[in-house]
Amino acid sequence: MIIVRDAYKSFNGNQVLKGLNLEILEGEMFALIGRSGLGKSVLLKHIIGIMKPDTGDIFVDEQNVGSLHGKQLEAMRRKFGYLFQEGALFDSLTVFENVAFPLREKTAMKEPEIKDRVFVELEHMGLKKDAHKYPAELSGGMRKRTSLARAMIMQPSIMLFDEPTTGLDPIIGQSILNYIQLCHRRLGFTGIIVTHDVPRVFTIVQKIAMMDDGRIIINGTYDEIVRQGNPAFQQFLSGSIDGPLHYV
Ligand SMILES: Nc1ncnc2c1ncn2[C@@H]1O[C@H](COP(=O)(O)OP(=O)(O)OP(=O)(O)O)[C@@H](O)[C@H]1O
Ligand SMILES: [Mg+2]
Repeated sequence: MIIVRDAYKSFNGNQVLKGLNLEILEGEMFALIGRSGLGKSVLLKHIIGIMKPDTGDIFVDEQNVGSLHGKQLEAMRRKFGYLFQEGALFDSLTVFENVAFPLREKTAMKEPEIKDRVFVELEHMGLKKDAHKYPAELSGGMRKRTSLARAMIMQPSIMLFDEPTTGLDPIIGQSILNYIQLCHRRLGFTGIIVTHDVPRVFTIVQKIAMMDDGRIIINGTYDEIVRQGNPAFQQFLSGSIDGPLHYV
């Protein structure tokens, strides 16, 4: 479903992707982990075509993202739901209006149907009673859940979750992961979850990839990568800073 082939990207001499390769099968849930600032969000933006690699190719559903423009690029992006790391809610719209936004903008759906769909989604996310509130009136967790509801409302075939549980208490964090898993079972999307929420996230994904120094250094099922015993992965799991740093 998604193939990243030998992607390189630098920003003003800061080389972020250095020949990155990754393949994700249709319907698979994938966790992408790695230290802060290494390029995980940048990689997601390449997959959805917001950023283009300096060299290398990205294929989504057998289409080369780099060769798409205008309407074709728009159609490709419509396959995606994207939970931005920053949430990116519209401050001047209520929770209801934020979640309804993609349906109003991108479909011909009538208001009564939109209302039904949005309220079902808000109910799932425990936000029904907050539908009339503005983002400024919400807690961090509520904002994250609103963003998640908006990303999923179009029932996309590919979901990119950029740190869905960061900054949330453990209970809300777990409920968000459970919700993502539930939606995955229901909708069968291909999903990438960028997260520092390890090992918890491993219970809801089939595969894990770890990024380091512009490449994917580990890739496989949990059992496979534990068997490999990669020191950088062990260190990431334990958060240990004793002994040598196995990154960099
Ligand atoms: N639009 C941009 N212009 C210039 N540099 C950028 C841009 N976006 C990202 N970068 C740089 O790319 C590198 C990777 O950033 P990115 O946001 O992908 O990290 P990350 O792995 O998602 O980190 P975190 O876990 O903290 O979210 C950083 O050095 C960042 O400064
Ligand atoms: Mg990031």
